[in-house]
Amino acid sequence: MSEQQNEAKKIAGRRVIQEFVRDGMKLGLGSGTTSHFFVRELGKHVANGMKLTCTTTSRSTIDVAREVGIAITDPNDIGELDLTVDGPDEIDRQFNMIKGGGACLLWEKIIAHASRQMITVCDETKIVDRLGAFPLPVEVVQFAWKQTERMVARVLEEHRIEASIYRRMRDGQPVVTDSGNFILDCKCSAIVEPAPLEIELNRIPGVVENGLFTRESAGMVVGCFDGSSYVKM
Ligand code: 5RP
Repeated sequence: MSEQQNEAKKIAGRRVIQEFVRDGMKLGLGSGTTSHFFVRELGKHVANGMKLTCTTTSRSTIDVAREVGIAITDPNDIGELDLTVDGPDEIDRQFNMIKGGGACLLWEKIIAHASRQMITVCDETKIVDRLGAFPLPVEVVQFAWKQTERMVARVLEEHRIEASIYRRMRDGQPVVTDSGNFILDCKCSAIVEPAPLEIELNRIPGVVENGLFTRESAGMVVGCFDGSSYVKM
């Protein structure tokens, strides 16, 4: 990842705080490098007296938040959130997204739905005309995962999507999510209709959640390589 891209992510995070975060809010903190930049920026505001109640979408974000002095509330104890801020792997201009590159898609979707509003924070490289270049993650239970994989392949085929599916591995071991599940990464041709695909993948019994987010984001805050940023709602 280039220094320029990291800078664009930081710029976007600062703009989110300026435009959307207010004292007293209940916030959902997203996962991934962009969200972590945002959380680090937020830590400076909390250190300066801003009062927030926060919960997170991954264990890794809990660690970052605590490092910068943001207390984390259990999601069961926070009630409805005002706002969740999270990053995409890909986002189109209608705010459909692929998420889950960091294997946190299940908690991310739960927290997004627990919020009155979700805002997506990203650098300009994440914006696409059509979803599908980034492999679509599908979180599946470990039991009979190869059977679930066959059913995922069938649903993708029914959507006329050509796909290669791999169980995600790291250091020679299967990746296990914060909820104890596996991730199937589906390298797909273009995803023309993400909304029905999201629903149909989730109807497969072994699928816990998939990385298509088609109803969650109300807008995006984009950091650009020239140092500017913009908000699109
Ligand atoms: C994790 C995610 C992340 O939000 C997504 O992968 C973006 O990450 P980054 O900001 O590092 O590009 O969905 O499951």
